[in-house]
Amino acid sequence: MLAACVFLSPRAPVLASLGSWRDPDAPLGVRVEDLLQRLTLAEKVEQLSAARDAVGAIPRLGIPAFQGWNECLHGVWDLFSDANRPPTVFPAPIALAAAFDADLLHRVAGAIGDETRAKANIYLAKENKVRMLNCFAPNINIARDPRWGRGHETYGEDPFLTGRMATAFVRGLQGNDSTYIKVAATCKHFAAYSLEAAEGFTRQTFDAHVNERDMHASYGPAFKACIQEARVESVMCSYNSVNGKPACASPELLQGTLRGVYGFQGVIVSDCGAVDSIFHLHEYTNSSAEGHAAALLAGTDAACVSFQELPEAVRRGLIVEADIDAALQRYLAARFRLGVFDPPERLPWAKMGPGDVGSNQNEDLALEAARKGIVLLKNRHAALPLDAGRLRRVVLVGPHANASEHMLGNYYGRPARVVTPLQAFQEALGPEHVGYQRGAFLEGWGGDGEMDGAAFDCRDSDACIIFLGLSALGVSDYHPPLYNEHGEYALWSPHDEAEGYDRVSLRLPGMQEGLLQHLARLTDTPLVLVLVHGSAVDVAWAEASPRVGAILSAFYPGQMGGQAIADIILGKEAPSGRLPVTFYYRNYTDQISAAEMDMVRWPGRTHRYVKVPVIYPFGHGLSYTEWRYSGLQATPRRHPGAASSAQSYNVSVMLTNAGDREAEEVVLLVLTCRPAQRASAEERAAFDLPGRSLRGFQRIALRPGESKLVRFELGGADFAEVLVQR
Ligand SMILES: *[C@@H]1O[C@H](CO)[C@@H](O)[C@H](O)[C@H]1NC(C)=O
Ligand SMILES: *[C@@H]1O[C@H](CO)[C@@H](O)[C@H](O)[C@H]1NC(C)=O
Ligand SMILES: *[C@@H]1O[C@H](CO)[C@@H](O)[C@H](O)[C@H]1NC(C)=O
Ligand SMILES: *[C@@H]1O[C@H](CO)[C@@H](O)[C@H](O)[C@H]1NC(C)=O
Ligand SMILES: *[C@@H]1O[C@H](CO)[C@@H](O)[C@H](O)[C@H]1NC(C)=O
Repeated sequence: MLAACVFLSPRAPVLASLGSWRDPDAPLGVRVEDLLQRLTLAEKVEQLSAARDAVGAIPRLGIPAFQGWNECLHGVWDLFSDANRPPTVFPAPIALAAAFDADLLHRVAGAIGDETRAKANIYLAKENKVRMLNCFAPNINIARDPRWGRGHETYGEDPFLTGRMATAFVRGLQGNDSTYIKVAATCKHFAAYSLEAAEGFTRQTFDAHVNERDMHASYGPAFKACIQEARVESVMCSYNSVNGKPACASPELLQGTLRGVYGFQGVIVSDCGAVDSIFHLHEYTNSSAEGHAAALLAGTDAACVSFQELPEAVRRGLIVEADIDAALQRYLAARFRLGVFDPPERLPWAKMGPGDVGSNQNEDLALEAARKGIVLLKNRHAALPLDAGRLRRVVLVGPHANASEHMLGNYYGRPARVVTPLQAFQEALGPEHVGYQRGAFLEGWGGDGEMDGAAFDCRDSDACIIFLGLSALGVSDYHPPLYNEHGEYALWSPHDEAEGYDRVSLRLPGMQEGLLQHLARLTDTPLVLVLVHGSAVDVAWAEASPRVGAILSAFYPGQMGGQAIADIILGKEAPSGRLPVTFYYRNYTDQISAAEMDMVRWPGRTHRYVKVPVIYPFGHGLSYTEWRYSGLQATPRRHPGAASSAQSYNVSVMLTNAGDREAEEVVLLVLTCRPAQRASAEERAAFDLPGRSLRGFQRIALRPGESKLVRFELGGADFAEVLVQR
């Protein structure tokens, strides 16, 4: 009641008794200071807890409970209830990266931010709790190893692409209001996190040995972009150790690199349980209180799930209350920027509600994103598109042919509907023209009765479309029973790419490749392979086989994925995605430990350093039209007064659609640097030059016969991140 009165009449006398932290027109620093000095030590500590539930209400001051932990990886993940309208589930980040379209991702993140804010408004009205507004997304770790179980949560293996995508996502989620943040984004996980469980290591205790070169050129740049370009509110420190220290207790990482080198002034929040694990799992300190103190002193401001040991740490003299105040100042400032202490009507999103969640408009955007993220890997003799008008019958085969939740990746809320591939083809061609055969399980070894059934059905059709791949079902409220009574992930197999688990092999799991070979052997029907997956799989056999006409990678394409796949295969839309990861041969994993953090050491990691043959390189992606590139030019740019003017270029190339259909093309600007001819052996040895470095990309739409001059600018920073001394 008191608070409501203040909201309605900010100049009323009651305001004076509450003080200036409530005054929306007072300077932020004054408000934060004023609120801080009203809190007891116990209250301060509770405010630093980023919990799943809304915690820390202080009725005495009219402060509602606050939820510090929400997820919005590719759609808002409502941890408590989907009753407030189902959210839109966009493609998994790896698919959004494959679209190579920063503007698209900005729109997607804007839509996620709207849905998140709308749900927050609903909760505030219903429960008087501040929920949803702190999202633990984006995941911007480099997909260092194809076995990593969370590669599909990322924007792939390239630091430049990841930096551009991270910036687009954070800006979209946080919005562009000059006063308020729509939803706080969290760039995670700092640093060098990319192993779940492999070769006896686990993510909770793994010590990543990272050299300066790789920190500068591979693991760091996307975080730098988040901070310096996107002005992200929050960065999450990771579970693993880096060079002997748990990341959340590492002053070198948090004070040195994040705050010092990158200039971060926002909130550092721990991964969930990471502060407890400093003592309990890393055994880095002698007590839990020392672990919490080490985290706070290293620069961790807020703890997911709780900083409960801090009062004990104060009692033991490990920290002083002023250390807590410094962290809380940052965390409270972020909440002020979210507008949660201001009259709601001041916020530009005050009127958002149920109608803004899962809207038709956002569903259309999910479809657009899914289409743009599909990559055509192979198209022998223009096997695709299929001519819908002349198809008598197609058969959809495989464990993912009627996939629903498997299309969603992980970290998703429950959407109103998922369009499965089978449903989309039935809709497009009429149910009587579409057959369906599972053929094999996703995992495990079944009998071959189903395979024979599939071969029999395919033999009698014009095309056989085989849906194979992986599963990322893990953490999700869509599928709560995934955990057994011991809290372990119950459905895991060595082929899943799920949180907490890495794959052991790049092969398609179970009998899947056998199913494909069976169909190739027993039928003459044209075969199309569609992959539903996150990280790279070894499809060398399908690439080489003349019986497989086309291969598409759909990744985890989200709730509209089935329709997007059908639109591409039936030629309603031309494919335009490119691979954001390298597709290695399966023997790659025999040659490199999953724990190897060095990017350069043989056989090398990612397209920048790999030294062995691969099936498909990073950036691979075919089209239905024919693209012609001509007249590549690099012109030095003049910077009056700049010392390194020779290292600034305007680069341009003429792109022509020389085919017969309208399409979009992603143009990549890739640098290859070599030592100068005159460089001495010593000078050559001082650099580990990446084989290739992506420094720009643009998506261009052209009609048949049309041309466009595509321009890029290359500046000193582009070279600084490439030419890294050993
Ligand atoms: C902020 O974004 C909205 C929606 O995209 C746009 O209409 C508005 O012009 C933008 N405002 C600024 C200041 O850029
Ligand atoms: C833990 O206790 C041992 C034995 O008292 C001591 O040698 C060591 O320095 C302590 N470690 C830390 C991190 O405080
Ligand atoms: C395909 O999946 C949908 C959604 O899960 C389900 O309703 C339908 O029964 C399935 N169709 C077949 C043929 O299994
Ligand atoms: C890995 O497999 C590829 C393709 O079969 C082959 O070209 C390459 O030589 C193999 N590498 C090793 C080290 O066996
Ligand atoms: C480089 O491009 C910028 C804008 O794209 C243009 O203003 C400038 O004149 C160009 N410089 C040269 C030397 O072409």
